[in-house]
Amino acid sequence: MKTAVILFGPPGAGKGTQARRLSVELGYPSVSTGDILREAVAAGTELGLAARKYMESGMLVPDEVVDGIARDRLMRPDCARGFILDGYPRTINQAEHVESLFPRGELNTVVVGIRVDDEVLLRRLAGRRTCPGCAKMFHVQSSPSKAGDRCDECGTQLVQRRDDSEQVVKERLRVYQENTRPLIEFYKSRKVYFEVDGSGAVDGIFESILGIVNARLGRGAVSA
Ligand code: AP5
Repeated sequence: MKTAVILFGPPGAGKGTQARRLSVELGYPSVSTGDILREAVAAGTELGLAARKYMESGMLVPDEVVDGIARDRLMRPDCARGFILDGYPRTINQAEHVESLFPRGELNTVVVGIRVDDEVLLRRLAGRRTCPGCAKMFHVQSSPSKAGDRCDECGTQLVQRRDDSEQVVKERLRVYQENTRPLIEFYKSRKVYFEVDGSGAVDGIFESILGIVNARLGRGAVSA
Protein backbone atom coordinates (compact mmCIF):
# COMPACT_ATOMS: atom_id res chain seq x y z
CA MET A 1 0.00 0.00 0.00
CA LYS A 2 1.04 3.54 -0.76
CA THR A 3 0.04 6.35 1.61
CA ALA A 4 -1.54 9.50 0.22
CA VAL A 5 -1.94 12.30 2.75
CA ILE A 6 -3.99 15.12 1.24
CA LEU A 7 -3.84 18.42 3.10
CA PHE A 8 -6.94 20.32 2.20
CA GLY A 9 -8.17 23.83 2.93
CA PRO A 10 -8.59 27.39 1.68
CA PRO A 11 -5.70 29.69 0.71
CA GLY A 12 -3.68 30.55 3.80
CA ALA A 13 -5.03 27.69 5.92
CA GLY A 14 -1.49 26.46 6.56
CA LYS A 15 -1.31 23.55 4.11
CA GLY A 16 2.24 24.35 3.02
CA THR A 17 3.45 24.98 6.56
CA GLN A 18 2.06 21.68 7.80
CA ALA A 19 2.99 19.69 4.67
CA ARG A 20 6.68 20.52 5.14
CA ARG A 21 6.64 19.37 8.75
CA LEU A 22 4.70 16.25 7.94
CA SER A 23 7.15 15.41 5.19
CA VAL A 24 10.05 15.49 7.66
CA GLU A 25 8.09 13.45 10.22
CA LEU A 26 6.79 10.75 7.85
CA GLY A 27 9.65 10.65 5.35
CA TYR A 28 7.30 11.14 2.36
CA PRO A 29 7.85 13.96 -0.15
CA SER A 30 5.54 16.95 0.00
CA VAL A 31 4.11 17.70 -3.44
CA SER A 32 2.75 21.22 -3.93
CA THR A 33 1.31 22.00 -7.35
CA GLY A 34 1.48 25.70 -6.40
CA ASP A 35 5.25 25.46 -5.76
CA ILE A 36 5.82 23.55 -9.02
CA LEU A 37 3.81 26.14 -10.96
CA ARG A 38 5.64 29.06 -9.30
CA GLU A 39 9.01 27.48 -10.19
CA ALA A 40 7.84 27.20 -13.81
CA VAL A 41 6.72 30.85 -13.82
CA ALA A 42 10.06 31.97 -12.35
CA ALA A 43 11.98 29.91 -14.91
CA GLY A 44 9.85 31.29 -17.76
CA THR A 45 9.10 27.85 -19.18
CA GLU A 46 6.20 27.16 -21.53
CA LEU A 47 4.22 25.78 -18.57
CA GLY A 48 5.02 28.88 -16.53
CA LEU A 49 3.95 31.24 -19.29
CA ALA A 50 0.66 29.36 -19.65
CA ALA A 51 -0.02 29.22 -15.89
CA ARG A 52 0.96 32.76 -14.98
CA LYS A 53 -2.20 34.57 -16.04
CA TYR A 54 -4.40 32.18 -14.07
CA MET A 55 -2.28 32.37 -10.93
CA GLU A 56 -1.95 36.14 -10.91
CA SER A 57 -5.70 36.57 -11.19
CA GLY A 58 -6.49 33.95 -8.55
CA MET A 59 -8.06 31.47 -10.95
CA LEU A 60 -7.34 27.77 -11.14
CA VAL A 61 -4.91 26.56 -13.76
CA PRO A 62 -6.84 24.19 -16.08
CA ASP A 63 -7.23 20.61 -14.84
CA GLU A 64 -5.42 18.99 -17.76
CA VAL A 65 -2.29 21.10 -17.10
CA VAL A 66 -2.23 20.46 -13.35
CA ASP A 67 -3.10 16.77 -13.72
CA GLY A 68 -0.12 16.33 -16.03
CA ILE A 69 2.20 17.96 -13.49
CA ALA A 70 0.83 15.82 -10.66
CA ARG A 71 1.08 12.59 -12.67
CA ASP A 72 4.73 13.22 -13.58
CA ARG A 73 5.61 14.08 -9.99
CA LEU A 74 3.74 11.21 -8.32
CA MET A 75 5.32 8.63 -10.63
CA ARG A 76 8.82 9.55 -9.45
CA PRO A 77 10.60 6.94 -7.31
CA ASP A 78 10.58 9.03 -4.11
CA CYS A 79 6.76 8.71 -4.05
CA ALA A 80 6.88 4.90 -4.14
CA ARG A 81 5.93 4.49 -0.43
CA GLY A 82 3.75 7.54 -0.13
CA PHE A 83 3.39 11.28 -0.60
CA ILE A 84 1.80 14.38 0.89
CA LEU A 85 -0.33 16.54 -1.39
CA ASP A 86 -0.55 20.29 -0.74
CA GLY A 87 -3.00 22.21 -2.93
CA TYR A 88 -3.90 19.25 -5.13
CA PRO A 89 -6.53 18.00 -5.90
CA ARG A 90 -8.65 21.15 -6.06
CA THR A 91 -11.56 20.04 -8.25
CA ILE A 92 -13.62 16.86 -8.46
CA ASN A 93 -11.94 16.09 -11.81
CA GLN A 94 -8.51 16.35 -10.21
CA ALA A 95 -9.58 14.09 -7.33
CA GLU A 96 -10.78 11.49 -9.82
CA HIS A 97 -7.51 11.85 -11.69
CA VAL A 98 -5.49 10.97 -8.57
CA GLU A 99 -7.58 7.84 -8.08
CA SER A 100 -7.13 6.85 -11.72
CA LEU A 101 -3.34 6.90 -11.38
CA PHE A 102 -3.19 3.91 -9.05
CA PRO A 103 -4.76 0.45 -9.13
CA ARG A 104 -7.86 0.17 -6.91
CA GLY A 105 -6.86 -0.64 -3.34
CA GLU A 106 -3.23 0.45 -3.73
CA LEU A 107 -3.70 3.86 -2.17
CA ASN A 108 -4.27 4.37 1.56
CA THR A 109 -5.75 7.87 1.45
CA VAL A 110 -6.27 10.26 4.32
CA VAL A 111 -7.59 13.75 3.71
CA VAL A 112 -7.12 16.34 6.45
CA GLY A 113 -9.08 19.55 6.06
CA ILE A 114 -7.64 22.58 7.85
CA ARG A 115 -10.52 24.83 8.96
CA VAL A 116 -9.81 28.56 9.38
CA ASP A 117 -12.09 31.64 9.33
CA ASP A 118 -11.78 34.04 6.37
CA GLU A 119 -10.69 36.92 8.61
CA VAL A 120 -7.68 34.92 9.85
CA LEU A 121 -6.87 33.74 6.32
CA LEU A 122 -6.73 37.32 5.07
CA ARG A 123 -4.34 38.28 7.89
CA ARG A 124 -2.10 35.30 7.23
CA LEU A 125 -1.85 35.92 3.50
CA ALA A 126 -1.28 39.67 3.85
CA GLY A 127 1.65 38.98 6.22
CA ARG A 128 3.22 36.02 4.44
CA ARG A 129 6.76 36.41 3.13
CA THR A 130 8.61 33.69 1.27
CA CYS A 131 12.24 33.07 0.43
CA PRO A 132 12.85 32.60 -3.31
CA GLY A 133 16.21 30.99 -2.43
CA CYS A 134 15.25 28.08 -0.16
CA ALA A 135 11.42 28.36 -0.08
CA LYS A 136 11.33 28.93 3.68
CA MET A 137 8.13 30.69 4.71
CA PHE A 138 7.64 33.49 7.22
CA HIS A 139 4.90 35.70 8.57
CA VAL A 140 5.69 39.29 9.51
CA GLN A 141 3.89 38.89 12.84
CA SER A 142 3.54 35.23 13.80
CA SER A 143 6.88 33.90 12.48
CA PRO A 144 9.15 36.75 11.34
CA SER A 145 12.62 36.11 9.96
CA LYS A 146 15.39 36.67 12.51
CA ALA A 147 17.24 38.51 9.72
CA GLY A 148 14.55 41.14 9.08
CA ASP A 149 13.55 41.25 5.40
CA ARG A 150 16.13 38.59 4.50
CA CYS A 151 15.85 34.84 4.96
CA ASP A 152 17.44 33.77 8.25
CA GLU A 153 18.36 30.44 6.63
CA CYS A 154 20.06 31.46 3.37
CA GLY A 155 20.18 35.28 3.41
CA THR A 156 18.05 35.83 0.26
CA GLN A 157 15.75 38.89 0.13
CA LEU A 158 12.23 37.81 1.12
CA VAL A 159 9.33 38.47 -1.24
CA GLN A 160 5.56 38.75 -1.06
CA ARG A 161 3.69 36.46 -3.46
CA ARG A 162 2.03 38.37 -6.29
CA ASP A 163 -1.25 36.58 -5.64
CA ASP A 164 -1.33 37.67 -1.99
CA SER A 165 -2.71 41.12 -2.84
CA GLU A 166 -6.11 41.76 -1.23
CA GLN A 167 -7.99 41.71 -4.53
CA VAL A 168 -6.47 38.42 -5.73
CA VAL A 169 -6.90 36.79 -2.31
CA LYS A 170 -10.63 37.56 -2.42
CA GLU A 171 -10.84 35.87 -5.82
CA ARG A 172 -8.87 32.85 -4.55
CA LEU A 173 -11.30 32.49 -1.64
CA ARG A 174 -14.27 32.71 -4.02
CA VAL A 175 -12.74 30.06 -6.29
CA TYR A 176 -12.11 27.85 -3.25
CA GLN A 177 -15.79 28.03 -2.22
CA GLU A 178 -17.01 27.35 -5.73
CA ASN A 179 -14.61 24.71 -7.06
CA THR A 180 -12.67 23.20 -4.19
CA ARG A 181 -14.96 23.06 -1.17
CA PRO A 182 -17.25 20.51 -2.88
CA LEU A 183 -14.38 18.02 -2.53
CA ILE A 184 -15.20 17.74 1.18
CA GLU A 185 -18.40 15.85 0.32
CA PHE A 186 -16.50 13.81 -2.29
CA TYR A 187 -14.02 12.57 0.33
CA LYS A 188 -16.63 12.25 3.07
CA SER A 189 -18.50 9.83 0.83
CA ARG A 190 -15.31 7.75 0.70
CA LYS A 191 -14.97 7.96 4.50
CA VAL A 192 -11.44 9.36 4.33
CA TYR A 193 -12.11 12.99 5.31
CA PHE A 194 -11.07 14.39 8.70
CA GLU A 195 -10.86 17.96 9.89
CA VAL A 196 -8.72 19.98 12.30
CA ASP A 197 -9.14 23.47 13.71
CA GLY A 198 -6.41 25.45 11.95
CA SER A 199 -6.77 28.68 13.88
CA GLY A 200 -4.33 27.91 16.74
CA ALA A 201 -0.56 27.60 16.94
CA VAL A 202 1.37 25.70 14.26
CA ASP A 203 2.67 23.06 16.74
CA GLY A 204 -0.77 22.15 18.09
CA ILE A 205 -2.26 21.88 14.60
CA PHE A 206 0.64 19.67 13.54
CA GLU A 207 0.02 17.32 16.49
CA SER A 208 -3.67 17.07 15.55
CA ILE A 209 -2.87 16.29 11.91
CA LEU A 210 -0.22 13.75 12.86
CA GLY A 211 -2.65 12.03 15.25
CA ILE A 212 -5.18 11.59 12.45
CA VAL A 213 -2.59 10.38 9.94
CA ASN A 214 -1.03 7.90 12.40
CA ALA A 215 -4.45 6.51 13.22
CA ARG A 216 -5.18 6.00 9.52
CA LEU A 217 -1.82 4.31 9.06
CA GLY A 218 -2.84 1.82 11.72
CA ARG A 219 -1.16 3.26 14.80
CA GLY A 220 -4.41 4.11 16.62
CA ALA A 221 -8.12 4.60 15.94
CA VAL A 222 -10.13 7.51 14.58
CA SER A 223 -13.53 7.55 12.83
CA ALA A 224 -14.46 9.64 9.77
P1 AP5 B 1 -1.10 27.41 -3.90
O1 AP5 B 1 0.31 27.78 -3.87
O2 AP5 B 1 -1.47 25.99 -3.72
O3 AP5 B 1 -1.86 28.36 -2.91
P2 AP5 B 1 -3.13 28.13 -1.93
O4 AP5 B 1 -3.80 26.83 -1.97
O5 AP5 B 1 -3.98 29.30 -2.26
O6 AP5 B 1 -2.51 28.10 -0.57
P3 AP5 B 1 -1.41 29.01 0.03
O7 AP5 B 1 -0.07 28.54 -0.41
O8 AP5 B 1 -1.73 30.46 -0.21
O9 AP5 B 1 -1.67 28.79 1.57
P4 AP5 B 1 -1.35 27.55 2.53
O10 AP5 B 1 -2.62 26.91 2.93
O11 AP5 B 1 -0.29 26.68 1.95
O12 AP5 B 1 -0.82 28.36 3.78
P5 AP5 B 1 0.68 28.60 4.25
O13 AP5 B 1 1.20 27.39 4.96
O14 AP5 B 1 1.49 29.16 3.13
O15 AP5 B 1 -1.75 27.85 -5.30
C1 AP5 B 1 -1.47 29.11 -5.88
C2 AP5 B 1 -2.13 29.18 -7.26
O16 AP5 B 1 -1.59 28.16 -8.12
C3 AP5 B 1 -3.64 28.92 -7.27
O17 AP5 B 1 -4.39 30.10 -7.00
C4 AP5 B 1 -3.84 28.43 -8.72
O18 AP5 B 1 -3.83 29.49 -9.63
C5 AP5 B 1 -2.59 27.58 -8.94
N1 AP5 B 1 -2.77 26.17 -8.54
C6 AP5 B 1 -2.07 25.49 -7.59
N2 AP5 B 1 -2.53 24.24 -7.46
C7 AP5 B 1 -3.53 24.11 -8.36
C8 AP5 B 1 -4.43 23.05 -8.68
N3 AP5 B 1 -4.37 21.86 -8.05
N4 AP5 B 1 -5.34 23.27 -9.64
C9 AP5 B 1 -5.42 24.45 -10.31
N5 AP5 B 1 -4.62 25.50 -10.04
C10 AP5 B 1 -3.69 25.33 -9.06
O19 AP5 B 1 0.45 29.74 5.38
C11 AP5 B 1 0.07 31.05 5.02
C12 AP5 B 1 0.73 32.06 5.98
O20 AP5 B 1 0.20 31.84 7.30
C13 AP5 B 1 2.26 31.92 6.12
O21 AP5 B 1 2.83 33.17 6.31
C14 AP5 B 1 2.46 31.06 7.38
O22 AP5 B 1 3.68 31.32 8.03
C15 AP5 B 1 1.25 31.49 8.22
N6 AP5 B 1 0.72 30.44 9.08
C16 AP5 B 1 0.51 29.13 8.75
N7 AP5 B 1 -0.04 28.46 9.78
C17 AP5 B 1 -0.20 29.38 10.79
C18 AP5 B 1 -0.71 29.31 12.12
N8 AP5 B 1 -1.20 28.17 12.63
N9 AP5 B 1 -0.72 30.44 12.87
C19 AP5 B 1 -0.23 31.61 12.37
N10 AP5 B 1 0.28 31.75 11.12
C20 AP5 B 1 0.29 30.63 10.33
